Amino acid sequence: MKPKLTEVTLNLLQLVAASVGHATLPAEIYWKKVLPNTPMPKVIKAQLHPVFTDIKGGRPRVNRPYYPLYYSVASEIQFPSDPALFFLKKDLHPGSEMNPGLSFVSTISGAAFLSRAEVDTIPFSSDKLSEILHRLNVLPGSELAKEVNKTLSDCEAAASEGEHKFCATSLESMVDFATSKLETHDLQVSATTVRGNQETAPKQRYKVAPSGVQKAPGAKLVACHPEAYPHAVYYCHLTRATKAFVVTLVGEDGTTVEAVAACHSDTSKWRSVFFKVLGVKPGTPICHFLPQDHLVWSPVH
Ligand SMILES: *[C@@H]1O[C@H](CO)[C@@H](O)[C@H](O)[C@H]1NC(C)=O
Repeated sequence: MKPKLTEVTLNLLQLVAASVGHATLPAEIYWKKVLPNTPMPKVIKAQLHPVFTDIKGGRPRVNRPYYPLYYSVASEIQFPSDPALFFLKKDLHPGSEMNPGLSFVSTISGAAFLSRAEVDTIPFSSDKLSEILHRLNVLPGSELAKEVNKTLSDCEAAASEGEHKFCATSLESMVDFATSKLETHDLQVSATTVRGNQETAPKQRYKVAPSGVQKAPGAKLVACHPEAYPHAVYYCHLTRATKAFVVTLVGEDGTTVEAVAACHSDTSKWRSVFFKVLGVKPGTPICHFLPQDHLVWSPVH
C-alpha cells in the first residue's frame, strides 16, 4: 500500500525533529523521576545536548582541566587553582570587595555525557588504560591520553579524612551519589553563572550586592567538579564542615555573577600555602568561589 504524502511528510518531520531537536534522553527521564522538583542546571543540559564536536566526529574535549582544591590540601604540589577564588569567611557580606584578580571563565568545552548504558560498557580504571583509550578514540601518548590517565588516578586516590568521594561517569550516577549522601530527593543544584548569557566574567573588582549572600539550606553539601576526560566525568565529594552560599557579585563594568561559594570552618588539616596567600593564621575559616560549571548539591530544607 502506498503511503499518503502527508504520512511521509510527517515521518520525515519526526526524523528531523529527532536528529536536530532535543529528543528526550534516558538521563533526562531519570532526572525527572528521581528529582521531580529540581530544575536541571544549564551546564548539565548543555552536556546532554552538546553543540560542538570536533571535526573528525570524535568526542569534544576538556580544554581547561581543573585540579581539585583538595590536592593542594593533601600534597606537595603548588597552589593548583586560582588563588583569587579564595577569601575569608568574615568577608562574606553585602558590600564586601573581593580579590581584584577575580574572574570567572568557562572551564569545560562541551564534553558530553554518555548514557549510563554506554559508559557501563567502558572500563574506568587505570589498569585498563589502553582499552579505555581505544574505546574513546584517544591516541596513546597524546596530551589527552595523559589527562585521561591523570583523571583515573585522581579518581582512584584514597579519600581524605572525613571525605566521601565518587567519580560520576554518567548523570544518573551523579544523581545517585548526591541523593544517597544527602539522604533526600529534595535537592537544589547550584552552579556559578554569569548573568545575561555571557560566557565569562572578566578580571576586575567585584563587590557583593546588597542582600547578595544566600546560605544554602541544609547542613551538608556535595560538590561536583568536572574532570579532564573525553566525555563528561565529575569528581563528586561530600566534605566535613562545609557550607554553601550563592553570592551575587557585581563587577565595576556591571557584569553580574551568581557565584557559588563553599566555606570551610575546619581548615586545621589544610596546607600552609592557603593561609599564606590570605595572610591569616592557620585554621582560620576559608571560603572559595567555585569556577563556572562546577556543581553544588544541597538539600532544599
Ligand atoms: C599513569 O599515571 C600513573 C600515576 O600517575 C603513572 O605512574 C603512569 O606512568 C601513567 N601511565 C601513562 C601511560 O602515562
